[in-house]
Amino acid sequence: MKTDKRKVALVGCGMVGMSYAYAMLNQNVCDELVLIDVDKKRAEGEAMDMNHGLAFSGSNMKIFAGSYDDCGDADIVCICAGVAQKPGETRLDLLQRNAAVFKSIIDPVTESGFNGLFLVATNPVDIMTRITCALSGFNPRRVLGTGTALDTARLRYLLGDYFHVDPRNMHAYVMGEHGDSEFVPWSQAMLATKPVLELCRQSGGRYCSEELDKIAEEVRTAAYKIIEAKRATYYGIGMALTRITRAVFGNESSVLTVSAMLRGEYGQKDVFVGVPCIVNRSGIQRVLELNLSEEEQARFSASCETLRESYAGLKL
Ligand code: LAC
Repeated sequence: MKTDKRKVALVGCGMVGMSYAYAMLNQNVCDELVLIDVDKKRAEGEAMDMNHGLAFSGSNMKIFAGSYDDCGDADIVCICAGVAQKPGETRLDLLQRNAAVFKSIIDPVTESGFNGLFLVATNPVDIMTRITCALSGFNPRRVLGTGTALDTARLRYLLGDYFHVDPRNMHAYVMGEHGDSEFVPWSQAMLATKPVLELCRQSGGRYCSEELDKIAEEVRTAAYKIIEAKRATYYGIGMALTRITRAVFGNESSVLTVSAMLRGEYGQKDVFVGVPCIVNRSGIQRVLELNLSEEEQARFSASCETLRESYAGLKL
């Protein structure tokens, strides 16, 4: 039976999943969290460890290790399970391996009677989100991937540093695949309501678009650098997942660059891709269509094509 408790079922208790869980505990984002992992003992250990921190947190979240049956009354099933990228590997290299993992997850989740939102973080996230939608048969508006939410946060952090302003006042997005073909539509990037390209033009050489391109490149290669240095990335993505979850439970209608299915927006369909979306209790309420320049639209279309091709090459 569904209650008004905010319940999340987390599938995959690796570093990404547990960073999400830990961030939710600290930010008091949900009331109940069930941890599910093929390694049940691991999930039990994680639940114990998290519960022991409960007295130090501002939350009275119920945390326990469970099974797919516990997804029945969940509001969100978040999937972080799968094989991780090794140094030098692209996110797309993981595809076939993680598709097999997802088959073994989605069926038992839907069989539990789950009727909430799927939130996917496993890479390559845009394709894994599409696979989740296909295997579950859910309305695509109820299937969200982390998309370029983290890339957008990385972009804002770097832009904040460059322009010496609070990253939260930098309004700019990374769009496209969460991966090598992603891009920044600079024509739509603002400091407050001031276009950054205009700022560059008027700054007498202090700021320039070449530096902006370097920032976009830094965002695109961030995960490779982190993996090289510490083998995996998890805090950033865990916080991105937490932010999306908060937008859902708070019915915030916040704009977040999640991976969403396009149905004609930007002239695209049959693709899940990172685009600014209005996210609330219903999932993806709406995809926002920005006024991309011709060049930006071409880059976006190319990124969508990359994703469609990878999906088409997949054996489900
Ligand atoms: C990253 C991983 C989550 O970008 O893809 O950090």
